[in-house]
Amino acid sequence: MKQAMPVNEQQLGPNLTFYDLHPPATDMLAEVRQSLSARQPHLHPKFFYDQTGSRLFDAITATEEYYPTRTEAALLARHNGEMQQQLGDTAIIAEPGAGSCQKVRQLLECWSPERYMPLEISRDCLLDATRQLSRDFPAVQIRAVCADYCQALSLPGDSRQPGQVVFFPGSTIGNFEPDARRQFLRGLHHLAGPGGALLIGADLQKDSARLHAAYNDAQGLTAAFNLNALHHLNRELDCQFDVDNMRHLAFYNADAARIEMHLECLEDQRLQLGDTHLTLKSGTRIHTENSYKFTVEGFTRELVDAGFTPQGCWTDPDNLFSLHLARH
Ligand code: AVJ
Repeated sequence: MKQAMPVNEQQLGPNLTFYDLHPPATDMLAEVRQSLSARQPHLHPKFFYDQTGSRLFDAITATEEYYPTRTEAALLARHNGEMQQQLGDTAIIAEPGAGSCQKVRQLLECWSPERYMPLEISRDCLLDATRQLSRDFPAVQIRAVCADYCQALSLPGDSRQPGQVVFFPGSTIGNFEPDARRQFLRGLHHLAGPGGALLIGADLQKDSARLHAAYNDAQGLTAAFNLNALHHLNRELDCQFDVDNMRHLAFYNADAARIEMHLECLEDQRLQLGDTHLTLKSGTRIHTENSYKFTVEGFTRELVDAGFTPQGCWTDPDNLFSLHLARH
């Protein structure tokens, strides 16, 4: 288990406490330098999510082509009463990677928990979202944690409350590599704790044309979202990416059952990484995201492997997306 990181705690309203665990910029530089100089250059998908990136992601979810968000929202709306019956009273909802905290609204309305604890790496996004949420839900105590949730599953001090429901929607789980996914699901099992549960969304394997379209929307929002990771690095670390000479690529890798996103250099890119330089040759691809697609049976098995007891699974009529409820 990781050491608890220093926490900066601020009371921002009667029902809103903000815990800042944002990793310092020096960590970011070391991480980016290492991943860009790897044999296969890559960037972690968390670098998409600065304020612009979070906005772009929200815009993607509203496109015709990107079915996961609206399909999942419909499943939640339709079945949250049934989920509540299975769960009984829920005192606490914890949400790693909460983004704009939109999806949880239905659960806050329907389940009326005492406390909501979103974890999110984009500070501005988290602040905006939770300020609004705290006004809309005055009876819910909101503990907003700004953190890289991959490193912060055990935080802050009392984050692991017996009987809490961990909400991990959107098929964010698809961003993890199989080994990391196994570990992360175990982490969620620990976070849920005895008496707790997990409500998690998983995008399903389907026709590759449909998948391709979802990651190559006609408005170019996914392209802008992918490229924004470079703007983010330019701003935070002064990397000097020539973003106009980088190209968005997204395709379905059927053998691995995943969408891959890359950024391809159209010219040599001479990068500044702190006090060192790195040149990426024209034609180099930076791998920015994998988005794994699941089967209901396969994902259920993974939940069992992580120690959960599956309780329920809901899918839409077209079998695009699945929501899974599992007990600790
Ligand atoms: C937030 C990881 C679920 O994989 O579909 C959307 C991110 N990337 N379009 C996904 C994403 C490109 C999204 N997740």
